[in-house]
Order: sequence, then structure tokens, then C-alpha cells
Amino acid sequence: MSRTRDGVETVRVELGERGYPIHIGAGVLGRGDLLRPHLRGRQVAIVSNEVVAPLYLETLRQAIGEGRQVDVFLMADGERHKNLETYGALMDFLLEHRHNRTTTLVALGGGVVGDLTGFAAATFQRGVDFVQVPTTLLAQVDSSVGGKTAVNHPRGKNMIGAFYQPRCVLADTTVFDTLPDREYRAGLAEVVKYGVIRDAAFFDWLETRAGALGARDAGALARAVRRSCEIKAEVVAADEREGGLRAILNYGHTFGHAIETLTGYERYLHGEAVAIGMVMAADLSVRQGWLPAGEAGRIRALLETLGLPVTPPALAGDAMVAAMGLDKKVLDGRLRLVLAEALGRVIVTEDVDAQALGRTLAAGEALCRG
Ligand code: NAD
Ligand code: GLY
Repeated sequence: MSRTRDGVETVRVELGERGYPIHIGAGVLGRGDLLRPHLRGRQVAIVSNEVVAPLYLETLRQAIGEGRQVDVFLMADGERHKNLETYGALMDFLLEHRHNRTTTLVALGGGVVGDLTGFAAATFQRGVDFVQVPTTLLAQVDSSVGGKTAVNHPRGKNMIGAFYQPRCVLADTTVFDTLPDREYRAGLAEVVKYGVIRDAAFFDWLETRAGALGARDAGALARAVRRSCEIKAEVVAADEREGGLRAILNYGHTFGHAIETLTGYERYLHGEAVAIGMVMAADLSVRQGWLPAGEAGRIRALLETLGLPVTPPALAGDAMVAAMGLDKKVLDGRLRLVLAEALGRVIVTEDVDAQALGRTLAAGEALCRG
């Protein structure tokens, strides 16, 4: 699935002519030899923000090298700027700087920058190339891979977007050195998700290397990022537009989104809410008689060891159900959930027992503890 050359691991997302490499390793952000083959024309627009640019922009500029028109658009930091206003400002910027259809947009930042840049690339002059240079763990293992791009609308997150694949992803594992602790751990939640949904052996490995991952051990991280990207690449290649299988990537997310919505997107980072959501989904899977209690306990324990929250805030069950019902993963008004059958195996199901769900929503601290 992946190959290693010069200490760089490359995972390929197999999507025919829209397929692309994910290069993973220390220092890939500065590797012009990996980036330049994906810059088709002589124009490049780097999109970043005021936090990330001072740290990594210069290295990226050097990787692009001389002889191109390189313009830099810096957006304000934060999810609330992933909106149509920033998108509009980026369009103005590209037109003012006379970017044409052969330009390449390069997203340097976390998922916010990546999602907005990808949507801009999908729509600017009916679509131009873009490259993802993800600088958070969550962006490296999730948002930069798979082609979901979007901005938010006041009525809902990611409500305006497109499926649009990048030409290449450069996942530099040294960028974690500057990442705040909470952001880093939130990314680990998504890494755990891959073990739960697709690879029991990877889950076992995460358990044995939890200490190393908590301490940001470079070797453990490179392997965790690589395996996560391999799994995401495999799922996306099988179901690019979420007609079926891709929905398994939403394990823990329906509960998680409801928690984020009901706490006003202020209390939890996305990965933290997903960690709680994964524990709730495991608890419900046990109550439905599908997942052995011991395996659910292991999911909770690993997340806890990695410093993630595993207990939901006190929220009324009715409010949770309503918030889950509003989630866009609901099809034709029926609640669809991703539930676990074993470590490494999940299913997307509408077969949700209302009483069992009620018990999960009321379990609080007792989640996955019977
Ligand atoms: P983020 O982009 O807001 O980054 C988190 C914070 O870390 C920001 O303040 C950012 O400026 C800062 N930062 C980034 N890299 C840094 C570094 N190396 N050192 C120091 N600080 C750094 O958040 P995120 O968690 O990366 O992404 C969340 C977004 O991703 C959400 O908008 C979510 O909807 C989206 N998302 C998209 C997909 C997808 O498939 N497209 C999947 C999951 C999440
Ligand atoms: N983050 C879920 C997906 O990419 O489908």
C-alpha cells in the first residue's frame, strides 16, 4: 500500500486520473522535488493563516523555488473564518493578482485552511489544481486526504462544498513540534478511529505505543500517520462520494457532532467530541448485543490514556437525539449510525434500538462500563 524512499513514505490514493500521492516524513514540507512536479503552471497561491505562516511559510516558499509568481493569502485563524466571506476575499485576491486556470493553490495549515482552499480550488475558474500541506495531526490523517472541501454557513457546518481531490499531500511529521497539546491529542482521536473501523492489529499497536504517541515520538507518529492515511485512502478509493462504505469514517461523529452543536462549538475541539462520540457508539454497540463489552472498554481506555475526554457533558437525551437527527448523515429522516461489531469492524446501520440509545445517552460516566 505504501512505499518508502529517502525516509519518505508514500501512500497513493487510487482514483484513476484523479489519484495522488501522500508523502509522509520529516522535512517533506521543504522538499521541492516532491512538490514541484505538481505545479503545472507558473502561478502559485499559498493560502495559510497568521499562526502557521510565521512558522512554515518560508520553508514552503523555498521548496517552490525561483521562477514562479508566488502570492500569499493569509486568512484569520479559526473555524469561524471558514466561511463565504473569507472564500470571497480569496477569490478577490486571486483575480486581483491575475491568477489563471493553470494556477495551483497550496493550502498550508490545519483543516480549516485546507477545507477552504480546497473549495476555492474546486470553484475558481471552474476548478484549478491544489496541493495540501497539512500542519495539524487531524489534517494529516483526515481532512487533507479524500477530497471533501467546504466552508460553513451560519445554519450549519460544511454546508457549502464540493468533492475535489488535491494533486498531492505533503505531510511533514516535524510540524507537530509546534502544535498545541490539545490540538495534537484531538488528532490522535481520529487515529484511534482508524483502528476501530478497519484494523484491529493497528488498534493493538496503538495500545502498546500509547506512551510514545503521547510523548510525540517521531517514529511512532510516522507510522500512525502512514497507517491512518493508508486506511483513509483505501476507503476513499472504494467510495469517493460516500455512497456507502465511506460513511464508516464517520464512526463516533454523529454523537460527536451533536455534542459540538449543543455546546456551541466552544467547549470541545472536534477530535475531543469525536473521542466521546466513539465511546458512546461503542457503548451502544454493546447494548445492541453486537460488540463484546471488553472491546468497548479497550476503546475507552485507549482514548483515556491518550488524554482525551471520554465522558459526555450533562446534556438532555432529547436534545441529543434532536441534534443527532439534524445531522446531515441522516437519510430520509431515519437515524443512521456507524456501530462496531468488533475491534476493526464497523457497520452503517439504521437498526438502532431506541431504548438502548436512550440508555447510552443517559450513561454518563458509566459509558462502556456496563
Ligand atoms: P485548525 O485548522 O483550526 O487548526 C487548529 C489550530 O492549530 C489553529 O489555531 C491553527 O492555526 C493551529 N495550527 C495549525 N498547524 C499548526 C502547527 N503546526 N503549529 C502550531 N499551530 C498550528 O483545526 P484542524 O483540527 O486542523 O481542522 C479542523 C477543520 O477540519 C474543521 O473545519 C473540520 O470541519 C475540518 N475537517 C475536514 C475534514 C475533511 O474530510 N475535509 C475531516 C475532518 C475535519
Ligand atoms: N472525515 C470523513 C470523510 O472524509 O469522509
